[in-house]
Amino acid sequence: MAEPENKLDQQQLETSADTPLIESVSEDVSAEVGEFMEQAAQQNEAAAEAVPDIKNRPGPYISFEHVYKSFGEFVVLEDVSFYVLPGETLCILGRSGVGKSVSLQMLLGFLKADKGVIKVAGDNICGYTERELQDVRRKVTMVFQNGALFDSITVGENVAFPMRERGEMAEDQILQVVKGLLEMVGVAGMENLLPSDLSTGMKRSIAIARALAAQPEAVLYDEPTTMVDPLMAHLLGNLIERLKQQLHLTSIVVTHDMRLAKKLADRVVFLHAGKAIFFGTMEEMERSPDPILQEFLTLDELVVPA
Ligand SMILES: Nc1ncnc2c1ncn2[C@@H]1O[C@H](COP(=O)(O)OP(=O)(O)OP(=O)(O)O)[C@@H](O)[C@H]1O
Ligand SMILES: [Mg+2]
Repeated sequence: MAEPENKLDQQQLETSADTPLIESVSEDVSAEVGEFMEQAAQQNEAAAEAVPDIKNRPGPYISFEHVYKSFGEFVVLEDVSFYVLPGETLCILGRSGVGKSVSLQMLLGFLKADKGVIKVAGDNICGYTERELQDVRRKVTMVFQNGALFDSITVGENVAFPMRERGEMAEDQILQVVKGLLEMVGVAGMENLLPSDLSTGMKRSIAIARALAAQPEAVLYDEPTTMVDPLMAHLLGNLIERLKQQLHLTSIVVTHDMRLAKKLADRVVFLHAGKAIFFGTMEEMERSPDPILQEFLTLDELVVPA
């Protein structure tokens, strides 16, 4: 049985956003993993270039434009708009039940908007067929709260899954990249464990490794730091920051964790009672006199002392 949190070593704690991801990878696999990461970074830069410009400036990689969503009579989103530029990170904030997870599911086409436009990589996905949505899900990967790992196969097989599915790599290359990705996300050597042997934080780290194995253009994280201890939250936050800076990954992070939002967000959108009542930078949000935003910020300080 693994005791993950105890295995975090000093080196992991000392990593900062500037520490190259490849430094976490052991020498025997670093060439293969380096090439894999380089490929991902180049692909993400190309994806950013491919997004259509708006008024001669890079357009959003992802956008919600006047989106509405109800379940029966129950209105979840009402005229919600926000965007994420390529390579940037958007944090979606708001109380429980405001539609944060629903927004992520709509982005991947698991739920349909009633009205409005949702764009991914410049294209409106709202009328997409299931097959077209599968292409979207290849470009945009979700890291679920519980990891959503396949329970009956090992950690290594989980991480290898997207690479085997694509069928472009030789088996020994896949095994090397699996080893390197696990080292990179701080769970080295766990290949042969089953997801049920792991803590929540480890499952989430492995879910991130599996997401990276798919070489996505964007990653959606649903509450990446909830239900783990502060140390693990710090490590996951650092990892997300390094992926953003070093792989130029476009990201959306749903979170209640204001420290995480401050660290990661280029922009935040605050959902409240069906509306996006704020969309801007974290500094702008902190300066806003809006009592709802101020209450959220104050409550957060009570729950999570700085
Ligand atoms: N498939 C569904 N059918 C009916 N109602 C749903 C469905 N999915 C979500 N809802 C409702 O939509 C609302 C928004 O849910 P959502 O999961 O997006 O909240 P959230 O902002 O992610 O909250 P939390 O912070 O607790 O995760 C909730 O009231 C939820 O019960
Ligand atoms: Mg949610």
